[in-house]
Amino acid sequence: MVCHDTTGKYKKVPTGAGMPAKDINLKTIAENVGHTSRANCGACHFSGGGGDAIKHADLSGNLLHPSRNCDIHMGGYDFTCTECHITKNHKIKGRSSSVPVAEGATECTDCHSKTPHYSGGLIDDHLNKHCKTIDCNTCHSPLYAKCKPTKTLWDWSKAGDKKRKPKKDKYGQEDYNPKKGEFKWKESAKPAYTWSNGYMNRILIGDKVDIDREIINITSPVGSIKDINSKITPFKIMKGVQAVDAKNKYFLIPHLFPKNKQDKTAYWKNFDWDKAFDEGMKAAELDYSGKYKWIQTQMYWRVTHEVMPAGSALSCVDCHQSLKDEKTCNRCHQNKEGIDFQKIANKGIDFEHMESAGRDVSELKDKTDYINFKSLGYEGDPIIHGGRFKKLPLKE
Ligand code: HEC
Ligand code: HEC
Ligand code: HEC
Ligand code: HEC
Ligand code: HEC
Ligand code: HEC
Repeated sequence: MVCHDTTGKYKKVPTGAGMPAKDINLKTIAENVGHTSRANCGACHFSGGGGDAIKHADLSGNLLHPSRNCDIHMGGYDFTCTECHITKNHKIKGRSSSVPVAEGATECTDCHSKTPHYSGGLIDDHLNKHCKTIDCNTCHSPLYAKCKPTKTLWDWSKAGDKKRKPKKDKYGQEDYNPKKGEFKWKESAKPAYTWSNGYMNRILIGDKVDIDREIINITSPVGSIKDINSKITPFKIMKGVQAVDAKNKYFLIPHLFPKNKQDKTAYWKNFDWDKAFDEGMKAAELDYSGKYKWIQTQMYWRVTHEVMPAGSALSCVDCHQSLKDEKTCNRCHQNKEGIDFQKIANKGIDFEHMESAGRDVSELKDKTDYINFKSLGYEGDPIIHGGRFKKLPLKE
């Protein structure tokens, strides 16, 4: 019913372990089931991490009624989730960054072609060639959390200070909650770019980790500049500070939510980590040694939604410093009267306009090397230094 209710009245309670709330009329809801909507799927997926816009880069309550600039498919063309996440026998296609699944992939090229640029303009040829190296959303979703700030840091080690007053940041989001710890938020964030072939490394419950490392990646993409199946792919990195068992060397699961008034171990009632870990690990059927340690963590969440209109993709110049100045396309092509290479190379996302519309993008204006070629393993701009498998015969 959570997937098929059309009345908007179906609900659960946090302590109900998935069961419906007692005060709803299940008969009315059963009489009004229908196709799934963004609201149905979003009832769970917009709140990954326990609230709206917490963990995912690009899934939030804003997708109930997004503007076309925020998400061209769901805002511009009113797509439902299942128009892309095609579902057979209740198996919902689409790989998750966090959990391994075997229900199939959902890809941009389920609908668009592998050479999707056909406008007839002078850059189609180059764009289609870039698709072998660059994930669609690197160019088409150059910012995530465009329309609503998302949580980017969650530090559990700071929880428990009942005297600390939460401060509001520039978005009006609170930086502290005694039950949960300290937070940071970001709106219109620039993704982290890395090579990805679609597979993820994941640390699961009970997996041993190296607790002496400064940072542990709970999930991270598999890929490399040398792997022909890898593409440059955008991710949100969710940073955290979480507890590991200092002897058993695995992550600890605390018991948070009090079961009832008598609950003596829940962290959110008693504010005692030792008791909360002891109880939580019992439920997970794993030993708790009694010694814990805080450690920095990162999770990679792929940016797969919030596609912008075609005209707001990254421009050639956003990536290639070498095309910014007087010499642009005419580094390699002959000038032709009536063709303004400068204009073509600069056409794309307009950060200045976005800033004037209230988006938090001031530090992105006039930036080139948006994806940072060196950090991806290139010697520098590929137009000067060559691509990953070939060097262009380029003379200045
Ligand atoms: C009752 C809560 C709930 C509802 C409603 C729900 N999901 Fe999920 N979904 C989950 C959970 C939990 C996971 C696994 C954890 C994760 O990846 O976040 C998941 C995973 C997924 C995944 C990742 C791949 C997979 O199969 O694990 C996709 C894609 C997905 N859901 C799409 C949808 C769509 C589309 C709808 C609406 C038709 C929907 N979900 C409705 C809870 C829900
Ligand atoms: C325009 C197509 C499109 C629409 C509309 C769409 N998705 Fe997706 N979604 C994708 C693609 C592509 C992926 C990547 C899946 C893959 O790699 O197999 C994805 C991934 C996901 C994932 C996994 C995310 C992760 O990184 O763990 C979830 C969950 C999800 N979608 C839920 C939803 C929900 C809920 C809606 C509706 C509010 C929705 N999607 C609408 C295309 C779409
Ligand atoms: C279920 C089919 C489907 C999937 C999956 C899908 N699209 Fe689309 N997309 C469409 C349709 C239909 C349109 C509107 C017609 C058109 O412009 O081709 C569109 C339009 C677009 C546009 C042009 C928007 C404009 O300015 O009008 C872009 C860019 C785009 N999609 C990129 C993507 C990317 C990137 C992905 C993967 C994250 C994706 N699409 C996944 C069906 C899909
Ligand atoms: C290197 C950046 C880049 C990559 C990678 C890229 N695109 Fe584009 N895309 C653009 C730009 C720029 C435009 C606008 C073209 C124009 O104005 O002529 C565009 C336009 C489009 C359009 C509108 C039709 C058209 O020809 O104008 C669609 C649909 C589209 N892209 C889908 C995709 C899909 C699907 C992928 C991945 C398979 C992809 N793009 C990969 C930059 C890119
Ligand atoms: C998202 C960043 C990005 C954008 C936007 C982008 N490029 Fe590139 N470009 C790259 C990368 C990465 C390579 C290296 C590909 C490889 O390793 O083979 C490259 C390589 C090239 C090359 C040399 C290799 C070749 O195959 O010809 C040319 C020329 C080029 N780009 C032109 C353009 C033009 C013209 C545009 C605008 C239409 C553009 N690029 C937009 C990232 C980008
Ligand atoms: C680093 C050199 C380089 C730069 C810079 C460059 N191109 Fe190209 N361009 C090429 C090469 C090489 C090809 C041939 C690609 C192939 O093998 O298909 C090409 C192909 C093309 C084509 C297709 C021509 C045909 O006959 O099929 C067009 C149109 C084009 N480029 C336009 C541009 C525009 C517009 C720009 C600037 C925004 C640009 N190029 C920047 C090297 C470059």
